[in-house]
Amino acid sequence: MHATTKLIHTIPVDALTGSVSVPIYQTSTFVQEAPGINKGYDYARTNNPTRAVVESVIAELENGSTGIAFASGMAAIDAVVKLLKSGDEIIAVDDIYGGAFRLFTHIYQKFGITVNYVDSSDAENVFNAISPKTKLIWIETPTNPTLKISDIAAIAKIAKARNCLLCVDNTFASPALQKPISLGADIVVHSATKYLGGHSDLIAGLVVTKEEQLGEKIKFIQNASGAIHSPFDSWLLIRGIETLSLRVKQHCANAQAVAEFLEQHHAVKNVYYPGLKKHRNHIIAKKQSTGFGGIVSFSLKEDTSESAKHLVTSTGLFKLAESLGGIKSLLCHPASMTHKSIPEEKRRAAGVADSLIRLSVGLKI
Ligand SMILES: Cc1ncc(COP(=O)(O)O)c(C=O)c1O
Repeated sequence: MHATTKLIHTIPVDALTGSVSVPIYQTSTFVQEAPGINKGYDYARTNNPTRAVVESVIAELENGSTGIAFASGMAAIDAVVKLLKSGDEIIAVDDIYGGAFRLFTHIYQKFGITVNYVDSSDAENVFNAISPKTKLIWIETPTNPTLKISDIAAIAKIAKARNCLLCVDNTFASPALQKPISLGADIVVHSATKYLGGHSDLIAGLVVTKEEQLGEKIKFIQNASGAIHSPFDSWLLIRGIETLSLRVKQHCANAQAVAEFLEQHHAVKNVYYPGLKKHRNHIIAKKQSTGFGGIVSFSLKEDTSESAKHLVTSTGLFKLAESLGGIKSLLCHPASMTHKSIPEEKRRAAGVADSLIRLSVGLKI
């Protein structure tokens, strides 16, 4: 069955009423026949039928066992880190999303969880960085914003051999292009705010686990910490997911055209897009995903924040805004926006130049 057909039929018709659209169960609690005897729902922080559909759909899409929906991508990331304890270490991709860096550094460091940042686009760097304390390997592929590609299958092998969990932030690729669990990852996280939602109208986060037991642990954290996804936003997210494959296909085609155009431009220094043959890990991207995504970054020959800021405030179709993955084209200047929480030196070392501009190529053709 074609992936889009399968996806649409994964989203259930309401068993009670036949409603084709998943109903929004806007309730905080559920009537019980006797204490503990209910229809599978007791309190809406613990479970909600609208959210349950999002959770089962994302588990199916990512070829995992369990999906867990959160109020934001950061809440999803936070729940995964809560699997760890003081003294544990994370190995994370150096070009990590700024919000994840902030969470790791300014929240978890003081609880004794340390993070070792490496360039995971060479799997050997991950292998060399593992210590007995390493419990979690954290990669984004492609990364935000320099579109670095890491070899998921190779890093999964390293993680397995050293008894570490591998978590892949699959926000940029989305399950329409890449399924990390099928490549050996233990956990997938999403900022579903981006391609899964797809219309820049919600904030959402998702975790998918390969194993049910690990899923139960994340579900426990979701209920204990309470950063749940609301019924209305779950409904919006389901609606977004329904058109995921079609949208992502068009995002990819448009981004490829934009990247090839920028490659030829006299004012552009470097173009970062995994669909370009000269991208360092183009072959790996081709092997592990069915497309290269809708994000293109580029730096300017005049490599200053000022020239980048001038450009991002002068465009017509591309609107200056944080976020990405929606139908409208957006652009941003990571050094002063999404990645400003990363110290300058660290940011530059991870390849985020002062003039780097990130494009989220929308659906306009
Ligand atoms: C790769 C990646 N992961 C996680 C997040 C955090 O998600 P949210 O903004 O939904 O909390 C973002 C946000 O931009 C992101 O780009």
